[in-house]
Amino acid sequence: MKVGIDKIGFYSPNKYIDMVDLANARNEDPNKYLIGIGQKKQAVIPNTQDVVTMAANASQKIINEDDKKSIDLIIFGTETGVDNSKSAAIYLQNLLNLNASARAFEIKQACYGATAGLQMAKEYVTNHPDKKALVIGADIARYGLNTPGEVTQGGGAISMIVSSDPSIASFDGESAFHSDDIMDFWRPLYRTEAVVDGHYSNNVYVDFFKNTWDKYNQMNGLSINDYKAITFHLPYVKMGIKGLRAVLPEASELKQEELKNEFNVSKIYSENIGNLYTGSLYLSFLSLINNSNDLKTGDRIGLFSYGSGAQGEFFSMKLERSFKNNYSIEEIDSMMNSRKKLTISEYETIFNQWLPIKNINMELDWKSDDAEFFLKELKDNQRIYDHK
Ligand code: COA
Repeated sequence: MKVGIDKIGFYSPNKYIDMVDLANARNEDPNKYLIGIGQKKQAVIPNTQDVVTMAANASQKIINEDDKKSIDLIIFGTETGVDNSKSAAIYLQNLLNLNASARAFEIKQACYGATAGLQMAKEYVTNHPDKKALVIGADIARYGLNTPGEVTQGGGAISMIVSSDPSIASFDGESAFHSDDIMDFWRPLYRTEAVVDGHYSNNVYVDFFKNTWDKYNQMNGLSINDYKAITFHLPYVKMGIKGLRAVLPEASELKQEELKNEFNVSKIYSENIGNLYTGSLYLSFLSLINNSNDLKTGDRIGLFSYGSGAQGEFFSMKLERSFKNNYSIEEIDSMMNSRKKLTISEYETIFNQWLPIKNINMELDWKSDDAEFFLKELKDNQRIYDHK
């Protein structure tokens, strides 16, 4: 029996900044951001959106009434949680009117959370083929104004339905994983921005990729020639390029060209949105299947997941009959193209409006948020969500 991803939804807010404008404001050569880092645009997240609302906005695009009846597992991967105790999954379940006879919880391991959720969902659906699982990867990547990491910010949510007989892609072989106690990126409880040793993180990422890639291929009797494309966790595009370059010498020149071409389409959404943290790998996967003209049913796609701290996992999926997911191609193109470009000063104002970590009663400017689901107010230590 095949188990895998049946649907993928994506949401990111309707505002962005251009990386040339950011480079100019920070006295950097624009080519450092465009070529050296590989980013073109960056999503800007207003304080009326958090991981709960972004996950609801991504999920409502894909969940129908049949799904609602079958989903009895809701796993929310995030490192931008809104509460130290209550999970974002419970808020989401309520906002979307999902089945109350469900297990709903949140998991965290930096940018790896959604992959952990996906693998748990795979095991669950394998044992309960008539059930479905909803797996979320939602985050807001914040490094701070005028920091080296600023160019690698962004945010949004990926929502995936895992089922038997999936429409998009099925799991293929057992995963290879590797973990180690590494201080490359973390966020202590009292901080709203990450602490990062970016250059070190680059090196660890490539090492973990090579480690899990070699292990996976050995375990499953595969070589680079067996992959139509390899997708990466993309905190910024250059990081994926570094990963790909580490294994390209294993392929013929012709195969190298093919893998580079497919990588170039897998980065389109990320280079225009920025870092989604735990959703980033799945945004690359979505970008690949929506934008490549060379894929066919049965093609094997590699997926490398990395969460700082650090956990790495490599696995592969085979494309299924309806992988083109046409509905979301139109939705995503129109969402990306209708975003409003902000000046750097407007972005800085929104960045500084991040909600404080203390009890405060305030109504937010939700009327200027065009999303279906939004955070309306903070009241008596509670977050009050609403929808249009
Ligand atoms: N034209 C083209 N390329 C240029 C350039 C120019 N004018 N100026 C610099 N570059 C290149 C550099 O050569 C370098 O390329 P390389 O990585 O292939 O060596 C790249 O741009 C970045 O330059 P660098 O000087 O290393 O930038 P930086 O010190 O400002 O830091 C990061 C860049 C990515 C390390 C920093 O943004 C960061 O820490 N980001 C967060 C990373 C992260 O999220 N890690 C954890 C998640 S997995």
